[in-house]
Amino acid sequence: MSKVTIFGAGYVGVPTAAHFSRTHQITIYDPDEQKINNIREVLDGTTHELHIHEKGLPELLRENRENLKLTTDIKEALEDPEFIFISVGTPPNARGRANLKYVCKAAEQIAANLKNDAIILNKSTVPPGTAYMVQDIIASNLKTDFKFAVGSCPEFLAEGSAVEDLRTPDRIVYGCDDPEALRKITEFFSYLHGKATLCPMSTISSELTKYAANSILATKISFMNSMAVLCDSIGANIREIQEGIARDSRIGRKFLNASMGYGGSCFPKDTRAIAEYGRLNGVPLSLIKSTIAINEEIIEYFANKIQDDFNGDLKGKNIAIWGIGFKARTDDLRESKAVEVARFLMDHGTHAFIFDTVKGALTNFEIENQQYKGKFTICQDQYQMFDQDLDGLVIGNEHEKFRNPKMSQLKKMRALNIYDGKNILNNQLIRQLTQEGFNYKSVGKDTVVNGVDKDRLVHFLREKYMD
Ligand code: NAD
Ligand code: UGA
Repeated sequence: MSKVTIFGAGYVGVPTAAHFSRTHQITIYDPDEQKINNIREVLDGTTHELHIHEKGLPELLRENRENLKLTTDIKEALEDPEFIFISVGTPPNARGRANLKYVCKAAEQIAANLKNDAIILNKSTVPPGTAYMVQDIIASNLKTDFKFAVGSCPEFLAEGSAVEDLRTPDRIVYGCDDPEALRKITEFFSYLHGKATLCPMSTISSELTKYAANSILATKISFMNSMAVLCDSIGANIREIQEGIARDSRIGRKFLNASMGYGGSCFPKDTRAIAEYGRLNGVPLSLIKSTIAINEEIIEYFANKIQDDFNGDLKGKNIAIWGIGFKARTDDLRESKAVEVARFLMDHGTHAFIFDTVKGALTNFEIENQQYKGKFTICQDQYQMFDQDLDGLVIGNEHEKFRNPKMSQLKKMRALNIYDGKNILNNQLIRQLTQEGFNYKSVGKDTVVNGVDKDRLVHFLREKYMD
């Protein structure tokens, strides 16, 4: 059992602390008193609700409360940890570069308060080389001559499934150029995971692995989104293409869902950050730049479909949005495409009725959209807005509750328009909806309604391909 201090009680820090506390002794340090008090209340059972919404997290924290300490006091945080994990935010700045001020501040605090030898691992997503900078900051500010090593240990959990992702990861990537420290990190993780899961490497490779992983996942989505636009144009179905390629085990099944774009606090930020890092290093990374461009175009493509259905005039319309979080089961609205659609609609004079299965997502929407006050209504129930002369329903994220809507409720709409931003309705339901008079739009499977214009395709081929 090792003593560990985790800097940052956010989406990564808290689940990581809970996971490590199965076999290690953990101190969570965050200067934000509200967050620390909130976790404290979860531990003592005063509340079940954490400031982040993660399935099973309150339970896991409570189960291991004997191994968990919480503090806002930096001295207490650094009493005697063998390992220190930095998991503070690295939000984008105006140029798309990762803002490293929180990481640097953590490094300064460590230097000023360290009282024993320690291994410091950076979990925040950072530009390669940051660990060396952290090493420098600590070395030049350290008051005594304790031995320390700095490495990288990027995190691959996804929001909403953090507890499970941490419990059964595909791999644990970590890097440290000090062989003795690397051996100790391997030993640390061996208490939690099998040897086959461990993936040690150099510090710089470990840092770049994180950006590479997020970029390739984002690229898969953008690739499918560009195919989706082509599908709509020729009458093919992106879901069928997806199935046809996913069965090739070299391609794989995951992250091939075309949608109105990827959102969240990670893919958009990290793809921009690595593109900028490449540019600054004279390496263009054109594929990642295309991934970003496609993600910006696809949301416009989807929003324009809605607007076109109203002949460009969205004024005075009432449109519901089911699912406002950047994906299902999260309160996180950062770079949510559903929020972008809501704002687009409100900017064009529509009143938006917002529902999400996560209450925190609704609260966050209200707080973050004060400038739109009066232009939206928050709905606590999935169907409460159907008494409001709705002109359309947008499906904003992938929650299962949105897959089988109640037909009797949908039919109350003033205008029968459904916009499936995540392509979650199945063909049978789409056909049923069409029979009932609904207009259905998606990202790459409009053919289920429109079919194929064979004559146009033949004419096109004769004209362009028969020299
Ligand atoms: P977050 O904003 O939820 O949490 C960051 C926390 O750090 C905040 O509570 C803040 O108060 C705290 N903090 C700031 N300065 C501090 C300091 N000096 N000492 C201690 N705490 C401090 O951020 P997050 O979503 O947990 O992300 C953290 C990092 O992990 C980012 O680099 C992110 O890109 C990366 N990441 C995030 C996810 C995710 O799903 N959110 C997944 C993998 C990696
Ligand atoms: C993502 C990665 O999946 C994590 O491995 C990584 O650790 C994390 O970023 C990070 O670096 O912070 P997350 O942003 O929580 O996790 O969510 P994802 O499930 O990856 O979804 C991201 C976005 O892509 C969502 O908007 C989702 O709707 C969209 N998406 C996902 C698609 O449009 N199609 C897909 O096939 C999959």
